[in-house]
Amino acid sequence: MSVHPALELRDLGKRYGQTEVIRGLSLSVQPGERIGIIGPNGAGKSTLFDLISGRQGPSSGQVWLNGQRIDGKPPFAINRLGLARSFQISSLFPNLSVFDNLRCGLLWQQGLRYRLFKSLSRLDAANARVEQLLAQLQLADRRDTLAAQLSYAEQRALELGITLASGAPVILLDEPTAGMSRTEAAGFVQLIGLVTVGKTLLMVEHDMPVIFGLADKIVVLVQGQLLAFDTPDKVRSDERVQLAYLGCR
Ligand SMILES: Nc1ncnc2c1ncn2[C@@H]1O[C@H](COP(=O)(O)OP(=O)(O)O)[C@@H](O)[C@H]1O
Ligand SMILES: [Mg+2]
Repeated sequence: MSVHPALELRDLGKRYGQTEVIRGLSLSVQPGERIGIIGPNGAGKSTLFDLISGRQGPSSGQVWLNGQRIDGKPPFAINRLGLARSFQISSLFPNLSVFDNLRCGLLWQQGLRYRLFKSLSRLDAANARVEQLLAQLQLADRRDTLAAQLSYAEQRALELGITLASGAPVILLDEPTAGMSRTEAAGFVQLIGLVTVGKTLLMVEHDMPVIFGLADKIVVLVQGQLLAFDTPDKVRSDERVQLAYLGCR
């Protein structure tokens, strides 16, 4: 029962020297909303995720997570407060099985690294959660396969699983379907929809039919500014969006 937005950006800005990459961005996301973020290359989408997840500090403005100010905190602290961002593929452990990748991700995010054997019941709970994730991600029959031996799409699914493992209520996914065929991407976004029910999701995705089908609202980011933030239908018919973005694809 939260009275706060899940995520709130207040006049957020990021500059590198003279270059303003994010400009005066204000945005409020309600718990359980799923937000698609679109915008041309270089618009600042990944930088925005860096600012929210703590990978970089903003030059100005504030980030609030569930009523708590988080800008300036390090990524692990923000993660503990309930925000998870997709890891890069390179952060999978190639020589560990799918099961162990998920279990390590889960235990690490629970802060059990240094007291692995303290609570066997928590380990049991972790194993049960991993089983649940394996089933949800359709990776159950790959549980003993090394991550390095998975197909590309399966690696992305495992990466998604590690992001979900902490149980964080707010999830950021930056181009999770990059490198997939359109058919693979459509299927994967459908899976993302299933595994993020009830969560707050912000997702950068280039395939517009695909993301317009999943998202409750769309953010259109152009040159670091919020050009539109509205339902997919409204965004699709917004003339400024068509001019600035949709028209020039
Ligand atoms: N560390 C950096 N130093 C200088 N410029 C950067 C840095 N990181 C990103 N940029 C610039 O910021 C802009 C936004 O980049 P990015 O957030 O990656 O865009 P997007 O994810 O929307 O494609 C780009 O023009 C990029 O060149
Ligand atoms: Mg990017």
